[in-house]
Amino acid sequence: MNKPFTGKVALVTGGSRGLGAATVKMLAEQGADVAFTYHSSSELAETVVEEVHSKGGKAVAFRSDQADTGRAAALVGEVVAEFGGLDILVNNAAISVEQGRTVDDPDADTAAQDRMHATNYLGVIALIRAASKVMRDNGRIVSISSGLGTLVGLPGLADYSASKSGIERYTAGAARDLGPRGITANVVQAGLMESPTMKPPPEVLEALVSSLSLKRIADPDEIAAAIVFLASPAASYITGAKLDANGGYNA
Ligand SMILES: NC(=O)c1ccc[n+]([C@@H]2O[C@H](COP(=O)([O-])OP(=O)(O)OC[C@H]3O[C@@H](n4cnc5c(N)ncnc54)[C@H](OP(=O)(O)O)[C@@H]3O)[C@@H](O)[C@H]2O)c1
Repeated sequence: MNKPFTGKVALVTGGSRGLGAATVKMLAEQGADVAFTYHSSSELAETVVEEVHSKGGKAVAFRSDQADTGRAAALVGEVVAEFGGLDILVNNAAISVEQGRTVDDPDADTAAQDRMHATNYLGVIALIRAASKVMRDNGRIVSISSGLGTLVGLPGLADYSASKSGIERYTAGAARDLGPRGITANVVQAGLMESPTMKPPPEVLEALVSSLSLKRIADPDEIAAAIVFLASPAASYITGAKLDANGGYNA
């Protein structure tokens, strides 16, 4: 198999399951040494590590709470200590809470919503700052957003949408700042996938699926392929861009 990532070190946040796990496996299969974070599911993380190792790849799991922005620099330091450098950062970890609650909902759990902003937005900023300080020239940053980062589309999604829109702008800013070092920074707008945590209420899910051009949810591998492309040497002249792998939500 072609291994365009041989010699490259990647850090994928939220690699214990879902899209992050698919991305870890795809990068490792294509030759990258992969560090990934998780928050609580250590057994799932270990399973991902074992699967990568069984195919001759290299992966190490790091338990790290992305909402703790003060942890970002230490995490990046641990990855560099383990692998000797850093070439690729995939900002995948995120949470989705209180979907369906309007901004004036008196029963909204605003503490949970604030934690979502800390995880999905501030945590990503902290990681881009920390990683870009040590990333080798011609590195890659790929941040995972959602169709909701562009178009809220339905009531009850303001907080999640804002957190995604925020990382889209920050990633574009990173593209401007890091371009002189050959480092690209791009966004993948992921589409709907099976997820134990990202599950919108049934009526929201139904409305979202019916709004898609393709009228179906995605397999994580279909979106990981877009991430891996933007992380690859083949994408060297693409930066500050947004790749919609969301089933045509914005079409
Ligand atoms: N699923 C969808 O329908 C959908 C749609 C559009 C966009 N997206 C985006 O696609 C990305 C992946 O979604 P997914 O469905 O694969 O998510 P998922 O299955 O819920 O997995 C989330 C991953 O992030 C990790 N994580 C959560 N909170 C964390 C924290 N505080 N610190 C570190 N890691 C943390 C989780 O670790 P633990 O396992 O330890 O909790 C897990 O590995 C996200 O950015 C999401 O916003 C998803």
